[in-house]
Parts: sequence; C-alpha cells; structure tokens
Amino acid sequence: MSRTEPARDVLRRPLTNLRLSVTDRCNLRCAYCMPEEEYSWLPSSEILSFEEISSLVDRFVALGVKKVRLTGGEPLVRRGLPTLIKLLAAKPLDELALTTNGVLLAEHAHALKAAGLQRVTVSLDTLSRARFLRLTRRDQLPQVLEGIAAARQAGFSGLKLDTVLTRGVNDDEVEGLLEFAGDHDAELRFIEYMDVGGATRWSMAQVVPAKELLEQLSQRFGAIAPLPGRGSAPAERFRLPDGRTFGVIASTTQPFCSACDRARLTADGHWFTCLYATQGMDLKAALRGGASADELEVLIRAAWERRSDRGAEERLALRGGRGPSVSAAELKAAPHREMHTRGG
Ligand code: GTP
Ligand code: 5AD
Ligand code: SF4
Repeated sequence: MSRTEPARDVLRRPLTNLRLSVTDRCNLRCAYCMPEEEYSWLPSSEILSFEEISSLVDRFVALGVKKVRLTGGEPLVRRGLPTLIKLLAAKPLDELALTTNGVLLAEHAHALKAAGLQRVTVSLDTLSRARFLRLTRRDQLPQVLEGIAAARQAGFSGLKLDTVLTRGVNDDEVEGLLEFAGDHDAELRFIEYMDVGGATRWSMAQVVPAKELLEQLSQRFGAIAPLPGRGSAPAERFRLPDGRTFGVIASTTQPFCSACDRARLTADGHWFTCLYATQGMDLKAALRGGASADELEVLIRAAWERRSDRGAEERLALRGGRGPSVSAAELKAAPHREMHTRGG
C-alpha cells in the first residue's frame, strides 16, 4: 500500500475521513431516521465480509484517509464486530471510532476496547423512558444508559453523545441532557433535524435552528464562547460560562459542505461522496470482479477528483420549498438513499 498525497476533489477538499456502514439493520426505529413500518433490506449475499472491508479500507488509506468511523444502521448488530476492529486497528489511522445507539453497548464495550477501538459516540435524544419508547418504538432507554456507563468503565475517553433536537418532541430536554453529559464525562452535541433520506416526515417547522438554541442557552446560562479548531468536523464547539463544553451540528441551517472530507461506504460496498448523493459507485462489484489494489485506487482517486457535492448547501438554497429529500416510495425502490444504509 503506497501512501501518496491525499486525493483532492474539485473544491480542493481532501479525502481524509471514511464512514463505514457495517450493516443497514437497526434495532431501533427512530422517528427521524426509520419512521416507516417496512424497509427493503440489503440482501445478505451482498454484504461485504470483514476481509473485503479491510481490503477496501487499505485502498482508502492509500488515498489519504486517516479517520475511520464505523456506523450502521446500528453497527453493533453486526456479529463479530471486534474481529473487524482488530483488522482496522492495525492500519495507519489517526482515529478509529464508532457511532452507536447504545442498546448493545454494555454487552460489547470491553471487547471493542480490547480490539483497539479508540472512541465511541452514542445517540441519546431523551432521558425519559416513555419518550424514548415513543421516539424509537422500543422500550430500551435503560440499556442505552447502561451502555454509556459501560463505555466509561471499559476505558473509552472522549465519549460523545449525539442529540437530534426536534421541536415539540425533545426540545424541552436541552438542559437535562447537558447535565447528564456533564455527569458522565461526555460531550453533548445537538444536531439539527436533517432532511436526509429516511427522514420522510421531515418539516422545517420541526427543526430547532442552532441560532435559536444558542440564544436560548445564553439567556439561561450567560455568554457562550465559541471554541477554535473546528477543522473539517461537523460540530462547532462552545463553552458555557461554567466551563462545560458542548457541540452543535447545524447541517440543516448552516451546512459545512465547504470543509467536508467524508466518504461513505455502505455495508454492500457502495461508495457515496455525499450524504445527499443520488448515485454511488459499486466498489464491491470491482473488488469481487477481480480489480487489483492499484486499479481500485485509480478508480477511487478519479471519482474523488470529480467530486463537487454540496448536498446540504443545495438543500439550504431551496429555502421555503424544502421538504423531505426523498419520498418513502423512492426509498423503498432505492434503499441506498436511506440514512440508515449510508451511515448516519
Ligand atoms: P467526529 O467529528 O469524529 O466526532 O465525528 P462525527 O461528528 O462525524 O460523528 P457522528 O457520527 O457522531 O456524526 C454526527 C452527526 O453529524 C451525524 O449523525 C449526522 O447527523 C451529521 N453528519 C455526519 N456526517 C455528515 C455529513 O457528511 N454531512 C452532513 N450534512 N451531516 C453529517
Ligand atoms: N437528522 C439528523 N441526524 C440524523 N441521524 C439520523 N437521521 C437523522 C436526521 N434526519 C443521525 C443522528 C443519529 C445518528 C445515528 O444519525 O445523529 O444519532
Ligand atoms: Fe458533505 Fe454532502 Fe454532508 Fe455537504 S451534505 S457536508 S458534501 S456529505
């Protein structure tokens, strides 16, 4: 594997960050991601083996990737995940992380840590059990809270908690969630509800814009200071007067496309260069068709060099005409456009 200059796209954005979806399945049904009753799942014969994933990651590393984040669906429903983590931990990466809904985390935290996983982000939208059940259609908040505790016990530091704020649903829990994060040595990030594939019930009225949230917090706590050093991260970080820090991911009202260094690989080896992209590249077909390492790298580099995606900025430009970006019927026919297939 030869490491050269990172590939750069049309807007000079480097390919440094890879989100790896290891399964499209999920054990929750969050209202902002999987609100429908039925889904078209990727066939199991199409799912990449750990060896295939590892080999594709080598190609991405050769082209500049330094951060790998495992996602889903829910990554912990993929059996044997620590085996994959061991393979990935041996690669020259700056960071190997996992985004999970936390339900299975208590069971797996120690094995994940032992396998070489460095960081964990857990989704946490509410601290109310009844509300969790309404939001996710599963009564599993206690397991999530155990999972968060287990991650700390297993020795994960730099724990992050992700909260999608939805107006009228959980926007009354801002302070409670901040307090919970402080008590658990974690950094909370508030995420704007996004009009991505999967969010078939999205409306702008339900989005709590970052600007409004920050105004609310500064009225409650006093002046909020932005922290420097964001780089290509989706979250802008802030400090409250009492020293607590938190992040805001304002993808809906203040997109960060100009700094986006992310590639997304689905569990069946389709590669997308934007969360909103309609077309991906079938790297599994190339891999299973016998393409050599060099041929794959040429293919990936050329596609990244053609990249000009600005999906979230284009959505913003629709202004008042904004609704769900993909209908439920379209998603059924094209499951690759689902957020849970693309990796959140
Ligand atoms: P770190 O910076 O390493 O913590 O990673 P991260 O913030 O990308 O991780 P995480 O999986 O927690 O992502 C948080 C949320 O940001 C996602 O669930 C999405 O809602 C949003 N997000 C992540 N990637 C993108 C992206 O490429 N584009 C947009 N518009 N939003 C994204
Ligand atoms: N808007 C914002 N974030 C979303 N996620 C999934 N769907 C959406 C959406 N419509 C993100 C959340 C969740 C992660 C797995 O995916 O951050 O915590
Ligand atoms: Fe990147 Fe596309 Fe998200 Fe913009 S919308 S930040 S280009 S993935």
